[in-house]
Amino acid sequence: MTLSHSSDRSLASIHAKNLLISFNQQILFSAADLHFSQGDVIYLQGDNGSGKSTLMKLLAGLIKPNQGQITSQGFAPQTWWRPSSLLGKAVYLHQHPYLFEGTVKYNLTYALDQRALAPEQRKKRIKQAIHMAQLTDLLNHNASDLSGGERQRLAIARAWIAQPKLLMLDEPISNMDKHSQRLVLAMINQLKQDGTGLLISSHQTCGLTALCQQHWHIKQCTIHTSIHVPQTDDLHDTHTTELHYGTSN
Ligand SMILES: Nc1ncnc2c1ncn2[C@@H]1O[C@H](COP(=O)(O)OP(=O)(O)OP(=O)(O)O)[C@@H](O)[C@H]1O
Ligand SMILES: [Mg+2]
Repeated sequence: MTLSHSSDRSLASIHAKNLLISFNQQILFSAADLHFSQGDVIYLQGDNGSGKSTLMKLLAGLIKPNQGQITSQGFAPQTWWRPSSLLGKAVYLHQHPYLFEGTVKYNLTYALDQRALAPEQRKKRIKQAIHMAQLTDLLNHNASDLSGGERQRLAIARAWIAQPKLLMLDEPISNMDKHSQRLVLAMINQLKQDGTGLLISSHQTCGLTALCQQHWHIKQCTIHTSIHVPQTDDLHDTHTTELHYGTSN
């Protein structure tokens, strides 16, 4: 059964086969066949410690599996100084994103340096990103002074500007207030409209997971894939979570 767009060889994709990863002689998970392709929007579910972040790091080429092959197709040819053929392909956005030293503005403009865009397009895209992430008032702030939610917004705005073909978002709305969640949801929706392949981990079904068309579930040390995404119990789930977060303790 075809679960993804990966059969179209012109699209950028990552394919993992017979994957097995273990730490300290303990199997974390195995996966028979995973396809992650442009146009896919995948909800990655799993309990704490089940291996969601580890899977993303594997697909990003940051760590190696104990067994299995991870291959890619549809990307520009590698340069000789990149030792791993996977590095730089599926971009991994960490739960606690890394930002460059300097201002918010610097972080946003640096993201564009690697892209061959005409100056007018560059300006337009940066402006759009600032608007979407509502970062106008923070442009001259040092990125290291931002709150957790603001950092996440900036990191996603930067990713949106850079337009990777495949993007993995690790818990992109955790610990965010309602306002930031809505902004991030809109940005992720925009990435989806642009055709970016998205792999998104989240602990709850919410507006974010409602955007997804496939479901990868790590349970009992195996990754199960399906085209049936668990339904959002309530589209206002994210809001409810935020209220609990904000009012408890
Ligand atoms: N380099 C490592 N060495 C040893 N154990 C590791 C290493 N990296 C991850 N682990 C272990 O693998 C397990 C899975 O970690 P991972 O961060 O992938 O889980 P997760 O599903 O992302 O969890 P969470 O929902 O809490 O973010 C954890 O028990 C973790 O301690
Ligand atoms: Mg994690």
